[in-house]
Amino acid sequence: MPASAAAPSVASTDRLFLELDRVRKMQVELSLTHLAQAAQFPSGVGEDDKDDDALKTYRRNNAVVAEREDKVRILVDKLANPKAEVARRGQALQLNINAALGLQEVVKSNLGPRGTIKMLVDGSGSTKLTKDGKVLLSEMQIQNPTAIMVARAATAQDEITGDGTTSNVLLIGELLKQAERFTSEGLHPRVVTEGFEIAKKEALKFLDEFKVARAMDRETLLSVARTSLRTKVRRELADALTEAVVDAVLCIYVPGQPIDLHMVEIMKMMHKDEMETRLVKGLVMDHGARHPDMPKRLKNAFVLTLNVSLEYEKSEINSGFYYNSAEQREKLVESERRFVDAKIAKIVDFKNTVCGGTDKTFVIINQKGIDPLSLDVLAKNGILALRRAKRRNMERLQLCCGGVAQNSVDDLTADVLGSAGLVYEHVLGEEKFTFVEEVANPKSVTILITGPNSHTISQVNDAVRDGLRAVKNAIEDEHVVPGAGAFQVALHAHLLKFKDTVEGRARLGVQAFAEAMLIIPKVLAQNGGFDAQDVLVELQKEYAHGHVAGIDLGTGETLDPVMEGIWDNYRVHRQMLNSCAVIASNFLLVDEMMRAGRSSLKQSNIEN
Ligand SMILES: Nc1ncnc2c1ncn2[C@@H]1O[C@H](COP(=O)(O)OP(=O)(O)OP(=O)(O)O)[C@@H](O)[C@H]1O
Ligand SMILES: [Mg+2]
Repeated sequence: MPASAAAPSVASTDRLFLELDRVRKMQVELSLTHLAQAAQFPSGVGEDDKDDDALKTYRRNNAVVAEREDKVRILVDKLANPKAEVARRGQALQLNINAALGLQEVVKSNLGPRGTIKMLVDGSGSTKLTKDGKVLLSEMQIQNPTAIMVARAATAQDEITGDGTTSNVLLIGELLKQAERFTSEGLHPRVVTEGFEIAKKEALKFLDEFKVARAMDRETLLSVARTSLRTKVRRELADALTEAVVDAVLCIYVPGQPIDLHMVEIMKMMHKDEMETRLVKGLVMDHGARHPDMPKRLKNAFVLTLNVSLEYEKSEINSGFYYNSAEQREKLVESERRFVDAKIAKIVDFKNTVCGGTDKTFVIINQKGIDPLSLDVLAKNGILALRRAKRRNMERLQLCCGGVAQNSVDDLTADVLGSAGLVYEHVLGEEKFTFVEEVANPKSVTILITGPNSHTISQVNDAVRDGLRAVKNAIEDEHVVPGAGAFQVALHAHLLKFKDTVEGRARLGVQAFAEAMLIIPKVLAQNGGFDAQDVLVELQKEYAHGHVAGIDLGTGETLDPVMEGIWDNYRVHRQMLNSCAVIASNFLLVDEMMRAGRSSLKQSNIEN
């Protein structure tokens, strides 16, 4: 490497290594002195005795030496790469804690039903209003690498369980903050993480005791959905959506089988206002009949699901028509046409056989195309036909109306037909929608979200998504957890008691974990406009008297979440406890941060 102004000289390099040696010697001496002093103490007085003066001096000196070593090491690192960006030990930890707390500060105000909302504006100026942690963290531009890691852990929480993103960020930040209280006094981060691990295991055990087994009847599910929805949209709207969300899941739920939420289609319509959002027990497709003469509203309909091309098709191999006169061309066209006409004739015959002499009507929903001439024939026969339906809708149509999708029109029989009480077209300006409703036993349903503008629709969409997941989780877990901060207050009390049974300094980690849990009730109270400490004291007092107590965000007093039906999902808490402890421990154990990756290598290559 050519000598540049920034590169240290050989003499200064030697000096650095000498300095490093000296620091190491100091460390050894310090430890020896400490060992000698410790040996003079009567047995039972060891490092765990926090009041020990000698220990305090040792820790202080150790911290000074460690800091010195850090500085020297950074200089040594810089020898290898003068442009390196390195942060070590205390500094690295501090960077991580600050970033996690920074992110915590951003999402704090969104927690709970009284949380505020954020406005996201993208480069093109389009806006989104949200208070959902997942939406916020995945759409917000975050640059700090630590904050990105926290955000990823939290959004993973949402992907796995559908909820708890905001709480997760708050807990990670708070765990680091509480840990810092001890590490700044010289406690090794490894000890804190050991404490976290012990506390996490105990917390999971406690959660299993604290959860409540409920029969997942409609009433309970309504409470679960209401709790979730009210944290996302205003109260009246949440209440209007609650029934739709619960009934949608109940429709598609088959006892003993996992719930597939893809069977609840979300259809958006920019129309009327968001209070009109409703559950359609059937299917809504975003296209209509392609012929003006086709019936627009049919009652008592047979539904034929087809995957048959009813149009001229380009052959897949290269071919050509050669003709000498107009008549010849006519003939060729006619013979081609005959194939399609024959298929149409079969369908019409079939329709006449099944509907003849009854009040039944006939609807065709085809995944392939139908050409204008064929549409004409179908329209003349009073058939409503939709072409180019989405493949997903074809599958859902069978679950919805019954029947079997057909790949050919030969041998059609009545048992391949589905049925619907009402099929109608709804026109909204340029757009057409087809509703297939009043089906007997729908195993696939649609939630039709209406709203005056796109940001309202997407807000309702996010809320509905969360509500559906909450109901699904509750049914699958068969248990729910009392919310409104009750679980965290109880866990805090439990862990403080449990701490006394933990040997050694790891108990400080358990204590930090317990304290960190309280961030949830504190922030819930703050967002409700109450004093966090006052509310917390009340909650703890109530819990000490043996009552499960949560925050009443209307009055700032305590309430019984079980009575009020404020339920959180069990799996959300489980995942949250797991992931926040793991990620916080990882951050605590980081003792060096450096810029890495190909770009730094490239840089040095250029210099060479
Ligand atoms: N009616 C209520 N009164 C008090 N607290 C409530 C009420 N409803 C819900 N909560 C509490 O609000 C918290 C959930 O808030 P919120 O849904 O805003 O955040 P999250 O679930 O952590 O993240 P996100 O939903 O954004 O992914 C839970 O702790 C829950 O117990
Ligand atoms: Mg939530």
